[in-house]
Amino acid sequence: MSDNRIRIHEVVTRDGFQMEPRFVPTERKIELINQLSLTGLAKIEVTSFVSPKAIPMLADAEAVMAGVARRPDTRLVALVANPRGVERAIAAKVDEVVLVVSVSESHNRTNVRRSVGASFDGFGEIVEMLKGTGVGIAAGLATTFGCPFEGAQPLERVLSLIGRYVELGVTNIALADTTGMGNPRQVREIASAAVREYPQVEFALHFHNTRGMGLANVLAGLEAGVRRYESSLGGLGGCPYAPGATGNICTEDLVHMLHEMGLETGVDLPRLLDAARLLGRIVEHELPGQVVKAGTSHDLHPMPEPVA
Ligand code: COA
Ligand code: ZN
Repeated sequence: MSDNRIRIHEVVTRDGFQMEPRFVPTERKIELINQLSLTGLAKIEVTSFVSPKAIPMLADAEAVMAGVARRPDTRLVALVANPRGVERAIAAKVDEVVLVVSVSESHNRTNVRRSVGASFDGFGEIVEMLKGTGVGIAAGLATTFGCPFEGAQPLERVLSLIGRYVELGVTNIALADTTGMGNPRQVREIASAAVREYPQVEFALHFHNTRGMGLANVLAGLEAGVRRYESSLGGLGGCPYAPGATGNICTEDLVHMLHEMGLETGVDLPRLLDAARLLGRIVEHELPGQVVKAGTSHDLHPMPEPVA
């Protein structure tokens, strides 16, 4: 496996389904995850073990984890917000839990109903709980590229919160543009600073395409040296606690772009497109993904017959 490989983390069944207007039946979630596991994605964020009152669409987290097929190359991960969620995630045998805190106090309070400091205090307990379980730990930093309530966040604050994760021994960190406020120049600045300051951290970038800047932000992230990206099949997604949040960057459009650029992802694009079509049938509404509609750049068309 070359070091230049870009790793894709799929978040559709968590970030995507949490925002769906209708509950996606458990067996349909399982069917989709099993198809996605065959495509070569590095990670799938299967679900979250949070309060079902906060996120009713993912109230079936245990049943989904129990029903999915496990494959050695794809890590199945789940978002958690408190020790109760970690207990549930360990019992459900996830490969990895994903902690989440926001850079902005106001978004953190809205999302998990506590201060940023209180979130980190709780993470200490979670790190202890996970010791010896074999369950890995990764983390997200929401609103890194802007908060819908407070606007842009100071770079020093972003860096110091990364530092707090590092102090806890957490070195897989996704910098998230929760509501698609980031622009490529800012992404390059923040991601470059993070990579420079914390060479021991394996960074991922999590983008939403709310304002059409998603794939441009990926390019900026690549230029900053980041090799992991979180995206959602079909471009589904959002955060119910962030006004205006819409779809994540679309996985199949991202993989297509990277392959066209000559970069390797290990993802089987035709299979991924099949999964995107399955997703369309599951949610029964149009999806923002473009390659599934247009075909790949290599799908050539017959020339039209000359008009007589
Ligand atoms: N799993 C299941 N139930 C949980 C739970 C968990 N991990 N954590 C809390 N609950 C339940 C409690 O039992 C309680 O239920 P009750 O009202 O029937 O007694 C209720 O949820 C509230 O619990 P409490 O501890 O008071 O939490 P809170 O109201 O302060 O909310 C969180 C804090 C973190 C639990 C909640 O805000 C949450 O789950 N947020 C997740 C947000 C999210 O996933 N956002 C999208 C991703 S960025
Ligand atoms: Zn998101």
